[in-house]
Amino acid sequence: MNLKSDDARWGSAAKFFHWSVVILLLVQATVGLVMVQLPKRPSVIAWFSFHKSLGLTILLLALLRLAWRAFDRHPLPPPGMPRWQALGAKAGHVLLYGLLFAVPLTGWLFDSASSLRPLFWWDLIKMPSLTGGANADLKPIAQTLHLWLFLALAAVAAGHAAVALVHHFFQRDDVLRRMLPGRRRLSTPNQESSP
Ligand code: HEM
Ligand code: HEM
Repeated sequence: MNLKSDDARWGSAAKFFHWSVVILLLVQATVGLVMVQLPKRPSVIAWFSFHKSLGLTILLLALLRLAWRAFDRHPLPPPGMPRWQALGAKAGHVLLYGLLFAVPLTGWLFDSASSLRPLFWWDLIKMPSLTGGANADLKPIAQTLHLWLFLALAAVAAGHAAVALVHHFFQRDDVLRRMLPGRRRLSTPNQESSP
């Protein structure tokens, strides 16, 4: 198992960060969209707390992922990929990283501005307030931003997944294969660099 990425494929650490965040985001989005529709009863608080803790976990994973990325390599674009496409992919990834931070941070900002009850990460760590107390002006802004940035993340991620599928099924290159779990045979093994 290669922890680090090389010129041809992503390492297991990058794959772990990528796919764990995808799965957690799906759970998180579902919980978020459902919990706001539930009747306001005390039992709903548990869902809100779960959503907040999971959201902070996603934020932590995004931070760890970026830190790891700084030491890791990045596989080369597939042979023959036009420069504009490589640049477009990079811009899309920068946007995804930005939204991966912005969505949980605006959720945290909304929670701080509401100042309903202390924010705990899985009942383990008390998180600081980002506003230093209730802030009635900021609260609706953070709430709206949290929803709209989430919608932007969903749209960009859907486009990103569609592009990955086009690479796989139409261009028949290794872009998706080299990000999938396991060590799959690549169609351009001569690109493989020695470990
Ligand atoms: C990547 C992480 C996150 C995603 C994808 C996400 C997604 C969502 C979604 C889809 C909603 C429903 C929005 C609506 O219909 O108005 C929501 C609501 C909410 N989120 Fe998040 N969220 C994330 C992180 C967080 C974090 C870290 C916190 C707080 C620490 C948080 C606090 C809230 C709260 C309090 C609501 C309810 C808003 C309301 O009452 O209108 N979220 N979230
Ligand atoms: C919420 C969903 C997703 C997010 C936030 C996300 C985010 C990202 C990010 C930030 C990168 C760049 C990695 C880096 O340069 O460090 C990446 C790469 C990649 N993602 Fe996703 N992704 C998501 C869903 C998907 C899905 C569903 C697929 C497959 C259908 C996919 C396929 C890929 C592939 C193949 C790469 C590598 C591209 C390359 O080698 O240049 N992603 N993703």
